[in-house]
Amino acid sequence: MEKYQTEMYLPSPSCLGVKTGFRNGRNVAEGYQRGWGLQFGDVREKILGDALYQDAIAIAGDRTIMSEANRMNIYLIMRFFMGSLPHGHIIEYGSYRGGNAIFMAYVAKHLFPDVRIYALDTYAGMPATDKDIDAHSRGDFSDNDFDSLRARVEELGLDNLVLVRGLFEETSAKVMGEARQVALAHIDCDIASAVRFSYDAVKPNMVDGGYVVFDDAAVSSCIGATEAVEDLLIRRDGLNSEQIWPHFVFRLFKGDAASAVSR
Ligand SMILES: C[S@@+](CC[C@H](N)C(=O)[O-])C[C@H]1O[C@@H](n2cnc3c(N)ncnc32)[C@H](O)[C@@H]1O
Repeated sequence: MEKYQTEMYLPSPSCLGVKTGFRNGRNVAEGYQRGWGLQFGDVREKILGDALYQDAIAIAGDRTIMSEANRMNIYLIMRFFMGSLPHGHIIEYGSYRGGNAIFMAYVAKHLFPDVRIYALDTYAGMPATDKDIDAHSRGDFSDNDFDSLRARVEELGLDNLVLVRGLFEETSAKVMGEARQVALAHIDCDIASAVRFSYDAVKPNMVDGGYVVFDDAAVSSCIGATEAVEDLLIRRDGLNSEQIWPHFVFRLFKGDAASAVSR
């Protein structure tokens, strides 16, 4: 990390005029710091001037289709918040050409050298989708080349990035057995069945206060992802989100949210 600056550049809770701490399982101030900071403040410009972000996005290149705001929010979570959690790894359900996984692996290598990034995908496109709810179809995102991704990861020396090829339904249990503790789950798989499966698969392994981020539940082409969040997190588990912009972010706790993590 020496070659990178470490100063905090998010707006402070006092500057935002909000209380710190938890309310209904979410840290309101921290949600504002990232979401308001990115949408209405100067945080985007600050990130663009941040050398660690610049280097990470440069090596991800054209391998990711994620929006800039979503990627920046993940960066903020890793850079300024994840370090306060108990130790846990990072998992991505839906990595496509591996760009965001490479991005996170580079950032983690400098911030959390003992954290692994597990990047799960068929790397051959979408499985069957549910035409009652999903706009995506089987085979979407099949313009992929797993061997070139594997070669690129090796070339970059990202030995903290574990590429896991296959259906989540067939690979996730083994990954959970190996990772055990997850601090950040990035769920970016667009379709109802996969989003539902991913959340339930990772939930028991989330560390207290861990971040579950849904890339596409507020995206117009992914109502299946929206429905998964509504059904499983909001209705069934009774959770409130810490952020709805640029994407849904939830905090997971085993016990009482307010006392489990306080900063
Ligand atoms: C929007 S893309 C991911 C984008 C990626 N995070 C990026 O940085 O560009 C969604 C991916 O989810 C994968 N996917 C969806 N359902 C899956 C499942 N059940 N098992 C494995 N992969 C799945 C697709 O193969 C596709 O590559």
